[in-house]
Amino acid sequence: MKQTSFLKNKMNKVLFFLLLCHHLLLQPEVLSAATLPAIYVFGDSTVDVGNNNYLPDDAPKANFPPYGIDYQGQNSTGRFCNGFLGVDFIAKTMGLAASPPPFLSLSKAKQTPRRGVNFASAGSGILPTTGNDVIAMSTQIRDFEGVAADLTLGTRTNNKKRVSASLNESLFFFSVGSNDLFAFAATLIPGNDTRVDEIVTPIIDEFKNQLKMLYGMGARKFAVAGTGLLGCIPAIRVLDPSYECNVDLNDLSMHFKNATEALLEDLRISLHGFEYSFADAYEMSIRIDADLQEYGFTEPRVACCGSGRRNAEDQCLRNTTYCRNRNQYLFWDINHPTQALYKVIARLWLFGPPELAYPVNLQRLLQS
Ligand SMILES: *[C@@H]1O[C@H](CO)[C@@H](O)[C@H](O)[C@H]1NC(C)=O
Ligand SMILES: *[C@@H]1O[C@H](CO)[C@@H](O)[C@H](O)[C@H]1NC(C)=O
Ligand SMILES: *[C@@H]1O[C@H](CO)[C@@H](O)[C@H](O)[C@H]1NC(C)=O
Ligand SMILES: *[C@@H]1O[C@H](CO)[C@@H](O)[C@H](O)[C@H]1NC(C)=O
Ligand SMILES: *[C@@H]1O[C@H](CO)[C@@H](O)[C@H](O)[C@H]1NC(C)=O
Repeated sequence: MKQTSFLKNKMNKVLFFLLLCHHLLLQPEVLSAATLPAIYVFGDSTVDVGNNNYLPDDAPKANFPPYGIDYQGQNSTGRFCNGFLGVDFIAKTMGLAASPPPFLSLSKAKQTPRRGVNFASAGSGILPTTGNDVIAMSTQIRDFEGVAADLTLGTRTNNKKRVSASLNESLFFFSVGSNDLFAFAATLIPGNDTRVDEIVTPIIDEFKNQLKMLYGMGARKFAVAGTGLLGCIPAIRVLDPSYECNVDLNDLSMHFKNATEALLEDLRISLHGFEYSFADAYEMSIRIDADLQEYGFTEPRVACCGSGRRNAEDQCLRNTTYCRNRNQYLFWDINHPTQALYKVIARLWLFGPPELAYPVNLQRLLQS
């Protein structure tokens, strides 16, 4: 009896997995008849495509090899990855030629790109106090305001309507919050939910203000990536003698992502026309971890590029050696995913089931 139900459970899991794979494989490489005018990207190193290259030396940088060795032309663009980020895969699937360019790479004289701009900065967070010498979210939003004004500027009045219609159909993409949580990790009191709420509430309040500000500027379609298993990244595991995940940090991340989900649902109800797709990176990570081989991974813990114990003690530098079979690693460096992991996450967000991409996946959001 017990064994049967165990087997059945296992079978269900396998069946579900096969269906999911099948489903994902059948998805088109490019969505048909893309109505998406542009993507505007906000956040941290998980979506920075080169803004930090333009910042002073003490800002986090990834514009040197071996960063980018799997990017076209082995180009170190400033992405904190061996290749493409999730936002790159998503932009391509949505019919854009490439992920939108970094805001700081745009020269004043040049026309503002019509298909979007990336404002993200590695090391930044939702709170202005998170990160030093990086572009805070509040600044990223002000930069967007300038871009939106440029788009409207000089256009005839009947074009203003077209611009706002283009903004309201555009995707506003966010991947942020991990650095805010890392900043408070040391102040966690194990098992104390009051302390967790004290940390989460001000971050969510600030995020709410930021999303409402963008809504006020005409944004309607929001894609928000939640925080994942932050306690399981190599840089955190290595702090533990037996290289285990930090359960308190995972718990903080779970509270934060639940609060983000609640915030988005709240905004959908209170702001007319507000639509969103939330990527539950936390649940995605659990699912990928449980079925590593099926997703093509064999190395879930060690960083591909890094040094010290399990490559997890020191950052990936110019002269650091790195793994060959990068497609089988979850982590490129001590705190960032590989291109292979970003690709899986992007496809789960675009086409995955509602328990991973809530309340609708990205494909549905764009076709709404
Ligand atoms: C990377 O691409 C940029 C822009 O396309 C180019 O200027 C630079 O030379 C390239 N770097 C390498 C190492 O290929
Ligand atoms: C955007 O604005 C246009 C024109 O006002 C309207 O027809 C369209 O339904 C709006 N789209 C969204 C997603 O709000
Ligand atoms: C839990 O955290 C709150 C807020 O930081 C603190 O006031 C309280 O004393 C803590 N409780 C315990 C048992 O540590
Ligand atoms: C977060 O949400 C999940 C369901 O999505 C639930 O199982 C879990 O208990 C929630 N955790 C907290 C701390 O609210
Ligand atoms: C790698 O470079 C760093 C500085 O960039 C230096 O401190 C370190 O000693 C170098 N390591 C090796 C093995 O050469």
